[in-house]
Parts: sequence; C-alpha cells; structure tokens
Amino acid sequence: MFKILKKENLAPSIKLFEIDAPLVARKAQAGQFIILKIDEKGERIPLTIADYDREKGLVTIIFQEVGKTTKQLGLLNEGDAVSDFVGPLGVPSHIENFGNVVCIGGGVGIAPIYPITRALKEAGNKVTGIIGARSKEYLFWEEKMRTVTDELLVTTDDGSYVRKGFVTDVLKEVIDRGEKIDLVVAIGPLPMMKAVAEVTRPYQIKTIVSLNSIMVDGTGMCGACRVTVGGQTKFVCVDGPDFDGHLVDFDEQMRRAKIYQDEEKRALLKFEEGCGRC
Ligand SMILES: Cc1cc2nc3c(=O)[nH]c(=O)nc-3n(C[C@H](O)[C@H](O)[C@H](O)COP(=O)(O)OP(=O)(O)OC[C@H]3O[C@@H](n4cnc5c(N)ncnc54)[C@H](O)[C@@H]3O)c2cc1C
Ligand code: FES
Repeated sequence: MFKILKKENLAPSIKLFEIDAPLVARKAQAGQFIILKIDEKGERIPLTIADYDREKGLVTIIFQEVGKTTKQLGLLNEGDAVSDFVGPLGVPSHIENFGNVVCIGGGVGIAPIYPITRALKEAGNKVTGIIGARSKEYLFWEEKMRTVTDELLVTTDDGSYVRKGFVTDVLKEVIDRGEKIDLVVAIGPLPMMKAVAEVTRPYQIKTIVSLNSIMVDGTGMCGACRVTVGGQTKFVCVDGPDFDGHLVDFDEQMRRAKIYQDEEKRALLKFEEGCGRC
C-alpha cells in the first residue's frame, strides 16, 4: 500500500497528493509518469510525476477530477493509501542545454511542466515560463514556477488575473520580441498543445508536447495509447509521453480521447449514485 502523506486543494477540482513511494522517488526523472490503482478492483490511471523528493521517498501527483476514478481519488485523505503505484514509466524528457527555451503549462498541465522546466533550467538554459488557466482560481504553482524560470508570464482566459488571453497569445508576443528561441515545451489539454504547435510551425521552432492519451497497461502491449506521429504508429506509454508537436496527429488523438465517453459517463453516474465500485 502507498500512503498519502499530504493532501492539498490547489484549485477547484485540482488536488495534490504526496505519496510515500521511495522506490519510485529514487528513479523518477522529469517527464515520467506513474499508473495507480485506488484498490484491488480499481481502474488503472496514469498521472505525471509532478515532483519528487528522493531523500524523503515522496512522489507528488496533481490531478484534476474529471471522471469516476479521479473523483474517487479526490475523496481520499491524508493517512489513506492506494493499493498500486507503478513507476516511473515512460521515457524521461530529453534535457540538455538547448539555449533559449520556452516552457508552457496550461491548466493542470502546469503540474507536469514544472519538473521539465526545473531540469531545463538546471541544464543551463535561459527559460521563459508561460502558465495559463481558465481563471485566477484555477491557477496554481505560480511561485514554484517562478523559482525555476528566468521570466514567468501568466495569463488567464477571462482576464481575472494578470492579463486576459490564452497561453498562445503570450507565446506569439514572446516570439515577436525577435529573440532566437531554440525549443518550446508545451503541456496542457490537446487543443492547447495543437494550437501551440501551429504557432511555432511557421517559425520552425522545435516544439515538444506531452500526450495524455487513454492508457491501460502502460507497457506497450495493449495498444490503447496508440498515436500517429509523422505517419508512424507510436505508443505513448513506451515511446513517449513526449513527442514532436509538429508531427503529432492531434485530430486523431482528440477522436481517440472520446472513444469510451459513454462508458465513462455511465461509470461516473453510478459512482455518484452511490455504487462506489462500479
Ligand atoms: C502520461 C499521462 C499523464 C497524465 N498526467 C495527468 C496529471 O498529471 N494530472 C491529471 O489530472 N491527469 C493526467 N492524465 C490524465 C488522467 O490519466 C485522466 O484524467 C484519468 O485517467 C481520468 O480518469 P477518470 O476515471 O477520472 O475519468 P474518465 O471518466 O475515465 O475519463 C475522463 C477523460 O479522461 C481521459 N481518460 C480516461 N481514462 C484514461 C486513461 N486510462 N488514461 C488516460 N486518460 C484517460 C479521457 O480523455 C476521458 O475522456 C495523464 C494521462 C497520461 C496518459
Ligand atoms: S497503455 Fe497499453 S500500449 Fe500503452
């Protein structure tokens, strides 16, 4: 069992857990994820390793309550435990001194962009961070992001904090300053990552995105996380989650993300009606 040592409400429906998982913490690297199961009969869900403390043996996960399993997870408290916590999984993000990089986190994507931003900063890059959320109440980890960036730009869709606009509007302004940008890394909802890739494409700025496809086994066997990248079939769990944003077939990904929509709705409804294990 993997104990929840700390629980924090970061934003409406967005929660942080610190999990006692020394073996995962020992090997975790930026860009990797875990797959957890709440209990024996639970669904396996992938979540990014948002932070880790090797000495204390802690792994931080941040999740948005979207369906049955994440809502059930959100009901757990400090002192409770989850039965399975498998990882670290996935290929670590490619980190080197690229020069001038821009790291973009949208919504809950701020969590997975943090460890990558920190690693890029530690590798000697000049790092501009851009974080955005629907509104002020959904924004989190601003100060934490500030500690690992040379400059942090913040935006909200509704203008309730700092400025009004999407992360792509801010990215356009950064590009318009005329500085050479060597790499953009963007994590957030699929439409956001697609939009970022379309902004950088005409400038031929290398753009890495982290895909949050449907996953089941996380070992490359089941095929659930299939994605087309540059015309080739890849598996997000073993070939990713990071991919070249200019080569990802985002439209296919968005279609695939909806394939279990009816079953997901039914599972959530039953859960909310009190059938906790359905
Ligand atoms: C590598 C990776 C890292 C992720 N990191 C995070 C994270 O740090 N924080 C976070 O909030 N979310 C993250 N996700 C998404 C998270 O796994 C889903 O939100 C979660 O599985 C939803 O489960 P549910 O039962 O609550 O919702 P459901 O009702 O089952 O689904 C709601 C939506 O979530 C997505 N989803 C459902 N099942 C899965 C699945 N097994 N794998 C992936 N997506 C699924 C689908 O798009 C679906 O429409 C990540 C996904 C991947 C693949
Ligand atoms: S989750 Fe099964 S192949 Fe990737």
